[in-house]
Amino acid sequence: MALAATSKPESTAPAAARPLAIEIDAVNKVYQSSDGAVTALGSVSLDVRQGEFISLLGPSGCGKTTLLRIVAGLEEATTGHVHLHGRGLDGLGFVFQRDVLVNWRNIIDNVLLPIDFKNKKPKAYRERARQLLGTFGLQGFENKRPWELSGGMRQRAAICRALIDDPELLLMDEPFGALDAMTRDELNVELQSLWRHADKTALFVTHSISEAVFLSDRVVVISDKPGRIVEVLDIDFPRPRSLDIREEAKFGQYSRHLRGLLERHGAFRKG
Ligand SMILES: Nc1ncnc2c1ncn2[C@@H]1O[C@H](COP(=O)(O)OP(=O)(O)O)[C@@H](O)[C@H]1O
Ligand SMILES: [Mg+2]
Repeated sequence: MALAATSKPESTAPAAARPLAIEIDAVNKVYQSSDGAVTALGSVSLDVRQGEFISLLGPSGCGKTTLLRIVAGLEEATTGHVHLHGRGLDGLGFVFQRDVLVNWRNIIDNVLLPIDFKNKKPKAYRERARQLLGTFGLQGFENKRPWELSGGMRQRAAICRALIDDPELLLMDEPFGALDAMTRDELNVELQSLWRHADKTALFVTHSISEAVFLSDRVVVISDKPGRIVEVLDIDFPRPRSLDIREEAKFGQYSRHLRGLLERHGAFRKG
């Protein structure tokens, strides 16, 4: 389509010239369930370059979580494979659909959880945890328990936890899905800013068209049952992007195009 411009305007190297971060090669996933076999993913292939922000957009049940879990090494592909470059699984931070903070730890110790899991010394990371919490507006909440925070604040803390060990790759599974629209907008802006300054590669699952267009360099549209890539759409807006771009005609064109694809590929069948 005419909209699909190529490179990220402000980057010095075009995306295609940057080194690979993730290679997803013909990944297929079949689950065995009591009703028989379910093909969650049918031959998905995608190359992600370092520093790219990629959204996976598709209807509920199309295999987005499955794909993210396979990339994270939490699930095995039935056939095909995923190759992570750089630090591999060690260089990966995961933000889940729900914040999954543990109630018996305060906020800063929740952020430090992955450090404990990796048997590293939490003491060396405390200052970094404090800084991250500050960046996400959680200064002063370090010693609170998760239930004392709002949903948006907990999800911010979960993002800090994913970032604590400075991952190269950030995997996010509908991290803002449960939040109200205003909090979601605010976190989209914060996430963009963090991703730009910290130079991360991001794989972001969403079923919000506008969130995908706002955040992404490329939006990968996945079809329903089995999940396959229908289209990869380049989003050509300079960075940093303000929420005002949502009023631009081009934003509307991207959104309409994506909505059309989702309609044709099963998104609105289930209401
Ligand atoms: N552990 C599992 N066992 C059996 N079926 C599963 C399992 N996990 C997911 N599925 C099925 O695989 C499909 C894709 O699920 P999922 O990856 O969670 O989709 P999405 O995240 O896009 O909503 C769905 O039909 C779901 O019911
Ligand atoms: Mg999911």
